[in-house]
Amino acid sequence: MSRVPLPYNPKILELFRNPKNLGRMEDATVTAVAGNPACGDMITFYLKINDQDVIERASFESYGCAANIATSSIVTEMVKGMKLEEAWKITWKSVVEAVGGLPSVKFHCGILAVGALKRAIRTYYKRKDFSPDWLQKEPSFEEKQALEEEELAKILSKRMKMEEEK
Ligand code: FES
Repeated sequence: MSRVPLPYNPKILELFRNPKNLGRMEDATVTAVAGNPACGDMITFYLKINDQDVIERASFESYGCAANIATSSIVTEMVKGMKLEEAWKITWKSVVEAVGGLPSVKFHCGILAVGALKRAIRTYYKRKDFSPDWLQKEPSFEEKQALEEEELAKILSKRMKMEEEK
């Protein structure tokens, strides 16, 4: 069976080949993971935040696909210099737009990237034991989706193990 290549636009392919801000950040203020290693779709986000709650630097590590790498890369570029409140407003739709569109089967890759960003912001305030007004109590759409994917991956890997043990 031959696999049909996905119709990625040139911008995604370029970001995939030359991603910006790829790599671990040793002096990160906060780190967040989204996805599940069992299915390979996993991202780690690193943010360096200053005393004014401004993101000075952002980087990522990804074991996801081209769409995941491209969207993570663009998110790290978008948030640079932003206040956390502003970065919180980034949605997966705006990220998909920023990469020039994604095939719909790849939307979840962009959702995971934004989910990781929002988790990092939430973790930052949790650690400070402070919740600004703009930080919604309920998980955002992207955080919820990331959680769902992780739950699904857990169930699948449990099932696979059970099959192996039969
Ligand atoms: S990160 Fe899961 S297919 Fe892209």
